Amino acid sequence: MSGRFITFEGIDGAGKSTHIEPTAAALRATGRSVVCTREPGGTELAERLRELVLHSAMDGVSETLLVFAARRDHVAKVIAPALARGEVVLCDRFTDATFAYQGFGRGQSLALLETLEAAVQEGLQPDLTLWFDLEPQVAAQRRAEARAADRFEAEDLAFFERVRAGYLARLNAAPERFMRIDASLGRSEVALRVAQALRERLDG
Ligand code: TYD
Repeated sequence: MSGRFITFEGIDGAGKSTHIEPTAAALRATGRSVVCTREPGGTELAERLRELVLHSAMDGVSETLLVFAARRDHVAKVIAPALARGEVVLCDRFTDATFAYQGFGRGQSLALLETLEAAVQEGLQPDLTLWFDLEPQVAAQRRAEARAADRFEAEDLAFFERVRAGYLARLNAAPERFMRIDASLGRSEVALRVAQALRERLDG
């Protein structure tokens, strides 16, 4: 059985993280080995870079470079080895988030992001990306009820409108890789759609 790389994406508050562990459990029940991880993060070095990116003031170029530095370590030490062992990797965010947040949200050059993406990933792309899509207004309400804001979560609605447009642009550039999930639906309905997407796309 070959490995599969599945990423979970969406604006803050869309609810993607809720669905990773249940998805892992469902896959394990079918006999698959599953690794759950996240970005920025997933290795000791990348988790340290995550702390900086989420909580230290810096400009957009530095932010972009740190996110990709974290990704390089994560791909080399965790993602690529797991895929080589034939495992399923479920990753909470990946490079689509960089295009959405640093590219569309912060206005960083998409050409720079493409260059870094190619250098860091050497062709590696997710097999399936689940995009939990939600109105920024609704996501902001959910966040307000849930937690203290980091550097991204503290941004305004206009920022999250741009991030959402970034995800849509990435979907349009690679529609065969993406599955858009309407995250305004209830949690159990969203879970059904995740399971359906995996059934349709995972073994294809
Ligand atoms: P998130 O994945 O929402 O984790 P949590 O549920 O713990 O808040 O937080 C990660 C933040 O990092 C999120 O606001 C988006 C941001 N981010 C980027 O800006 N660029 C990236 O490339 C990645 C992976 C994340």
